[in-house]
Amino acid sequence: QYTAEPFVPEGAGLSALRRAAAGCRGCPLHRNATQTVFGAGDTDARVMLVGEQPGDQEDRQGAPFVGPAGKLLDRALREAGLDPAEAYVTNAVKHFKFTLAEPRKRRIHKAPTLREMTACGPWLAAELALVEPELIVVLGATAGKALLGSSFRVGQVRGTVLEEEIHGRPERLVPTVHPSAVLRADDREQAFQGLVADLRVAARTLA
Ligand code: URA
Ligand code: SF4
Repeated sequence: QYTAEPFVPEGAGLSALRRAAAGCRGCPLHRNATQTVFGAGDTDARVMLVGEQPGDQEDRQGAPFVGPAGKLLDRALREAGLDPAEAYVTNAVKHFKFTLAEPRKRRIHKAPTLREMTACGPWLAAELALVEPELIVVLGATAGKALLGSSFRVGQVRGTVLEEEIHGRPERLVPTVHPSAVLRADDREQAFQGLVADLRVAARTLA
């Protein structure tokens, strides 16, 4: 049974949590990744954004959503009337999972398993207890499964406000697509506008 639980300090602030997470060995994903990428932002934030896992750039730089998906997300947030600097941003899984692809051994993102998401859950629970956000924006299917269970399907609930108990606390959530899915979409502009429309629901909920 993989779990981060024994590594999570009780009642810790953000910097102590981040320091502890740097040493997490709760599942095998720490072995191949460069470093733990913990959540970042204002612990008084009203909104918490939850992604899947760090990507290649995040793994190198040690911060969430600093690569191409993060740039797109920031643009979508601004267009929806949300200030990226006022959000707390994190991921369901804190280590980069990848396979090496020939010819140049490029690191290709690989989706985490349910076991890995469950293992990493105590970190997300600690972040939720610390930040106590008014609203959680769920970015894509992995974050949705991690927070709402394995039957989560983003297409059915995107752009709606859900009320669910998450790690023992009543939370409001707005699911939407993952910004990486927008980057991969055939019609990128349409996919981007869809993301913005969902984020506007989040902005209205906070207003
Ligand atoms: N994708 C994610 O889900 N999280 C990041 O931090 C970067 C890309
Ligand atoms: Fe720990 Fe999560 Fe990294 Fe697994 S992915 S080692 S549970 S921080």
